[in-house]
Amino acid sequence: DAPRPLIAGNWKMNGLRAALQEIETLRDAVRAGHVGSVDLAICPPATLIHAAVQACGGVLSIGGQDCHGAPCGAHTGDISAEMLADAGAGLVIVGHSERRTDHHESNPTVRAKTEAAWRAGLIAVLCVGELREEREEGRETEVVGGQLAGSVPDGATPDNLVVAYEPVWAIGTGLTPTCEDIAAIHLFIRGELVTRFGEAGQGIRILYGGSVKPGNARELMAVENVDGALVGGASLKATDFLAICACL
Ligand code: G3H
Repeated sequence: DAPRPLIAGNWKMNGLRAALQEIETLRDAVRAGHVGSVDLAICPPATLIHAAVQACGGVLSIGGQDCHGAPCGAHTGDISAEMLADAGAGLVIVGHSERRTDHHESNPTVRAKTEAAWRAGLIAVLCVGELREEREEGRETEVVGGQLAGSVPDGATPDNLVVAYEPVWAIGTGLTPTCEDIAAIHLFIRGELVTRFGEAGQGIRILYGGSVKPGNARELMAVENVDGALVGGASLKATDFLAICACL
């Protein structure tokens, strides 16, 4: 059986307190039965996590966008996985390309963050994806395979890991790969997970991310081995996010 899909919203560095209204709208839609058999998660900025957990009424998951590898210590500005869990988060994004690029995060760093997430009892939503030039050179499987090998720790299960395939050139650009290209790389990722984790690899959700909108979500979500989406811009408005969820 295919895993239950997950639609996760990544608000990135967007959202003041007024944005909690969007969480309340999502909560009310789930409570009213307007969202089908799909798990919902929102990863707001860290400043809103605690309030978002309170606003969501327990019907969607709230997550962090990053965590440090250590549980505590002299790391000014960083947040540990334990702190996210303490604030009520259930998941955390690790290895987003904006972290890999802006903060020079390597695969070993992402691996340590994933282990930190598990230590704190959080689901890690681990991002992989190639750059435009890597895709143009036909190196996407080599790049994604290297990211998976280098950043996914031993012991991954459907309960502690979600992989998000996000081609960097598709993030915030309005561009998406073709459904054939998405099918090919998701099949490759599935194969890598099964090779490493056996049956558990079949159940690990593989999300697609990069310019997912209400207008393209139906065809993207219908691709084999696409078990949901990691949504950036279109997750900021509850109406758009719910329209995407309705495509599953
Ligand atoms: O984490 C989300 C992704 O980076 C996708 O962002 O939907 O704005 O392209 P986007």
